[in-house]
Amino acid sequence: MQIGPVTLANPFILAPLAGLTNWPFRCLAKEAGAGLTVSEMVSATALAHRGRATLKLLETDGGLERPFCVQLFGKDPDHLARAAEVAVEAGAHIIDLNLGCPARKVVGSGHGAALLRDLPLVRRLVAALVRAVKVPVTVKTRPGLGPGPDQAIWELLPILEGEGVAALTLHPRLASDGFAGEADWSLVARVAERASIPVIGSGDIVTADQALDRLRHYGAAGVMIGRGARGRPWIFRQCLARWRGWPEPEITLDERLRVAERHARLLFESVGPKAPFMLRTVLMWYTRGLTGAAEFRARLCREENLETQLALLAECVEGHRRALSCGR
Ligand SMILES: Cc1cc2nc3c(=O)[nH]c(=O)nc-3n(C[C@H](O)[C@H](O)[C@H](O)COP(=O)(O)O)c2cc1C
Repeated sequence: MQIGPVTLANPFILAPLAGLTNWPFRCLAKEAGAGLTVSEMVSATALAHRGRATLKLLETDGGLERPFCVQLFGKDPDHLARAAEVAVEAGAHIIDLNLGCPARKVVGSGHGAALLRDLPLVRRLVAALVRAVKVPVTVKTRPGLGPGPDQAIWELLPILEGEGVAALTLHPRLASDGFAGEADWSLVARVAERASIPVIGSGDIVTADQALDRLRHYGAAGVMIGRGARGRPWIFRQCLARWRGWPEPEITLDERLRVAERHARLLFESVGPKAPFMLRTVLMWYTRGLTGAAEFRARLCREENLETQLALLAECVEGHRRALSCGR
């Protein structure tokens, strides 16, 4: 798949997830074969001023993470332009503008999906980004702010096409719906049919079969996987296998344990012991569905030390293995 001059090796993309898709998570998705990884959303204003904590969000394993997209949120054309320059300096190959975030704090300050109320401003924001950088500029959005039959997407699309946006990602739920109900993939199909730029669909993909179905039947040039990749970065390997017509690889317990440990160690390297909550959350993801996971979680919460946490995880996996062999 093509995003302007940038070629993706495949159409399976790791979605931006605020607070989660830091470089360790992205690195594992990339190792599993994701065609593109996207940073979590980064404040254009903070980045334009080169805030240290914000610059940290741009950290990447430059060699592996290629192509890499940085997503910005902002409502000031100058800040967005300056932030995009900083992101490109830091290694971004694509710049994405967030027009979809429904979080109250974000919308309340006029960012994210709130911008769908002011399409003339969106035009200025996109034009400023396209002027500022040589890399392709993309947009990720919801179809409208809602509630009600809000169809900002139909007015937005020609604006993006006219200003030189290279691709559009659509999460087909109104912002006012948050994550309720099901993503309306028929809307992705209708937008893709009308669009002259590639349309990427995002929403509710948790298996390789679903990813393939969305690609084949809804006109999407690419699909993003977000929540379905938490604690399951190998979903990209499974998507690739199905895409190539191979059987879907089974993920063994040993592999689950190895990937979980690697994720935790990379995260520890990135954030250090100051973020025990983040480490615990990540380890919990990998125990979903295992026998004894609830007990593991309770014990994990009492532990601060990474090595002890990893030993508990290995114990939990062993317990599950034993339960499986007893049940046989
Ligand atoms: C915890 C969380 C954080 C998210 N952060 C972002 C973000 O920073 N930028 C963005 O465009 N979308 C963000 N999203 C939306 C996802 O990228 C994606 O479009 C949405 O979750 C639907 O896809 P999924 O069902 O595969 O998760 C976030 C979603 C979640 C659940």
